[in-house]
Amino acid sequence: MAHIELRNVTKKFGNQTALRNLDLEIADGEFFVLLGETGAGKTTTLRLVAGLEKPTEGQVFIDGVDVADWGAAERDVALVLQQYSLYPRYTVRQNLEFPLKSKLRRVADAEIAERVARVAKTLRIENLLERKTDRLSGGEMQRVSIGRAIVRNPRVFLMDEPLSALDAKLRESLRTELKNIQMNLGQTFLFVTHDQIEAMSMGDKIGVLNNGKLVQSGTPNEIYNNPKNTFVARSVGSPPMNLIDGKLVDGRAVMKAASFELPYAGANGAATEGRALTFGIRPEDVRVESGAPIEAMVHDIENHGVEKILTLRVGETTLRATVPALTDVAIDKPVRFSWDAERVVLFDKASGDSLQHSA
Ligand SMILES: Nc1ncnc2c1ncn2[C@@H]1O[C@H](COP(=O)(O)OP(=O)(O)O)[C@@H](O)[C@H]1O
Ligand SMILES: [Mg+2]
Repeated sequence: MAHIELRNVTKKFGNQTALRNLDLEIADGEFFVLLGETGAGKTTTLRLVAGLEKPTEGQVFIDGVDVADWGAAERDVALVLQQYSLYPRYTVRQNLEFPLKSKLRRVADAEIAERVARVAKTLRIENLLERKTDRLSGGEMQRVSIGRAIVRNPRVFLMDEPLSALDAKLRESLRTELKNIQMNLGQTFLFVTHDQIEAMSMGDKIGVLNNGKLVQSGTPNEIYNNPKNTFVARSVGSPPMNLIDGKLVDGRAVMKAASFELPYAGANGAATEGRALTFGIRPEDVRVESGAPIEAMVHDIENHGVEKILTLRVGETTLRATVPALTDVAIDKPVRFSWDAERVVLFDKASGDSLQHSA
C-alpha cells in the first residue's frame, strides 16, 4: 500500500521537456489512470516513480517520504509494460517464481509455492502453470506478466499501457479483470494509457496529460461532465463532445456559422453576453424528435446495435447525435433536433477554458 505524490516535477531530456511542473497525487489504494497521447509524458512519469529516472526539478514522495535517494529496488514498485518481459524457455510457474527467488528476498520455498498458487488462481492461469511461456497467447502472456508483478506484493503497481497490444475482445475482458484484481488487492495502481475507454472504465481518478502538463485530474464523472477545457472535452467520450462556436444572446445560444439558436440554461451574466464562446454538447444530449426547433440534414448514420450515431448538418455546422436504434432516420433526409440545455458546457472560444471552471 502506498500514497504517491509528484510535486512540481519537471523532467528534461537535453533540450526536450518531457514533463512540466507536474503535480500529481495518488491516494493509497486508488486506481489512478494517466491518460495522454503518445509523447505526452506518461512513460516518463512512471519511470520517475519507479526510480528509473531522476526529476530535473521537483520531488517524488512515496508515503510522504522524498525518495530522491532511493534506487528502484528500494522503492519496491512493480512495473508492467506493454511488451511482456517473460523468460521464453521457462514455464509459467518458473516465471512467477523468479521475482521471489532473488537472494535479497529470501522467501521460503513453501511460501513461494503458496504465493504462486494464489496468484495463478486470481489470474485464472492455474491450468497454464507448467506450460512454457512461448506457448502462450498474447492475453495469457500479459496475465503472467501481471502475475509476476502481483506475486512480489509490491507497494505500488505501475502499468504502462499493458493492454494496448491485445485485440479488442481480450482488452475488454482484461480491463474488467484488472480492475477486479486491484479492488481485491486494495493496492495503489498507476496505470497509463492513450485509450480513453480504458481510462473511463477503470480509473477511480483520471489525470489528463497533454504535452508534459497535467490538464485536469478528477473522477471519470468530473472529467466527462465538467471538462476543464476543450482539450479534455475532446479527450473523453466517443463520439467526442460537439464543440460549436457561437455566442450567448439573451439566454439563447446563437450558433455563428449555422445561424441557429437554442436555449442555454446556465448562468447568463454580463461576462458571457455576446462574448465569443464554444458550446460543448455531448452527442447523447442531442435529441432528435419531430417538433424540435432546428432542422438538420442527416449526413451519415452509424449503426451500433442498441443505438445509432448520426452526423447532422445545419448549414456549415456538423454535429453528432447518439440516438436509440429505432429512431426513424435516413441519409440526406431532414430531421429536427434540440439539445438538453442543462447539460451544455460553455468554453471561452479564445482560451478554450470552461467557464464553469474559471468562474
Ligand atoms: N530517454 C529519452 N531521451 C530523450 N527524450 C525522451 C526520452 N524519454 C522520453 N523522451 C521524450 O519525452 C517525451 C515524453 O515521452 P514519454 O514519456 O515516453 O511519452 P508517452 O509515454 O506518453 O508516449 C517525448 O517527447 C519523448 O520523445
Ligand atoms: Mg509511453
